[in-house]
Amino acid sequence: MKIQAGKVAVITGAGSGIGAALAHACASRGMHIVAADIELDAAERTVKELRSRGSEAVAVEVNVARRDAVQHLAERTREAFGACHLLCNNAGVSVNRPVAECTAADWEWVWSVNVAGITHAIEAFMPMLREQTEASHIVNTASMAGLIPLPGFGAYVASKYAVVGLSEVLHQELADTLTGVSILCPGVVDTQIFASERNRFDGGDTSTQPPAASADTDDGSAMQTDFEETYTRMLSPQEVAEITLAAVEDEQLYVATHPEWLALFKQRSGAIDSAFGGSVAH
Ligand SMILES: NC(=O)c1ccc[n+]([C@@H]2O[C@H](COP(=O)([O-])OP(=O)(O)OC[C@H]3O[C@@H](n4cnc5c(N)ncnc54)[C@H](O)[C@@H]3O)[C@@H](O)[C@H]2O)c1
Repeated sequence: MKIQAGKVAVITGAGSGIGAALAHACASRGMHIVAADIELDAAERTVKELRSRGSEAVAVEVNVARRDAVQHLAERTREAFGACHLLCNNAGVSVNRPVAECTAADWEWVWSVNVAGITHAIEAFMPMLREQTEASHIVNTASMAGLIPLPGFGAYVASKYAVVGLSEVLHQELADTLTGVSILCPGVVDTQIFASERNRFDGGDTSTQPPAASADTDDGSAMQTDFEETYTRMLSPQEVAEITLAAVEDEQLYVATHPEWLALFKQRSGAIDSAFGGSVAH
């Protein structure tokens, strides 16, 4: 989809990190912005900055885990701008805990935001996108954790694999329509993701350790060492936003912002390849 002035971008999680950067990048190209976030103050801060630069923007409080709230977001978008051209399903949270130690509440919370948050938005916005005669695009934010297993992040990884899966299917199903799909898969980005529990609305376990605690755990695997040495290059949210908008314009399905992670992906795909008898060339 061509990013053009006057088109409308709806961005969940627009109060912080990658979402805020996407809002700024879209606004700098003249798009109108619906900045949605569970932290209304943060969304309003983003909107204030955008308006001070002459952009049209509205803030909407939304907990994407709630279907009715996301339906309301679609209604507010229609009222404010009458359309949605770029839907960035960006809001996401992380629990940093080994699979065997994740509680039912951990699984539920991560799934409700990272996966149901996206399916709610697809349900709420698809009627609007289908009605429109202009091109539109959906960006679902997964992660490198949606392509590669990361010890210590099981619930997060499972949710992001689900995002990749549902987005791949959606992409095929929408192939003959005006709506494109991209799956954003960043490595490490300098945001507040590791303080996700600030937005834990289920009152669940708040004892999640910071990421360093997991990285320090010596599980004896080569992957852990590799991760520390190679896979901690941090991009800024602004860099990720620019890469994302370029990918939208190119109609790219997979948006891999950190090429150095390819070796880890190949470990996984190679193992799967072997399970099929190794007949698929990479
Ligand atoms: N930062 C990274 O290293 C990294 C890497 C890969 C993928 N991601 C993904 O990028 C996306 C954006 O995260 P970020 O890194 O900018 O983190 P962030 O914490 O800085 O921003 C996330 C935003 O989502 C909002 N949010 C949280 N729960 C919500 C809910 N239930 N409803 C609505 N909004 C909610 C937060 O208030 C926040 O503004 C997430 O999906 C995350 O999984 C981040």
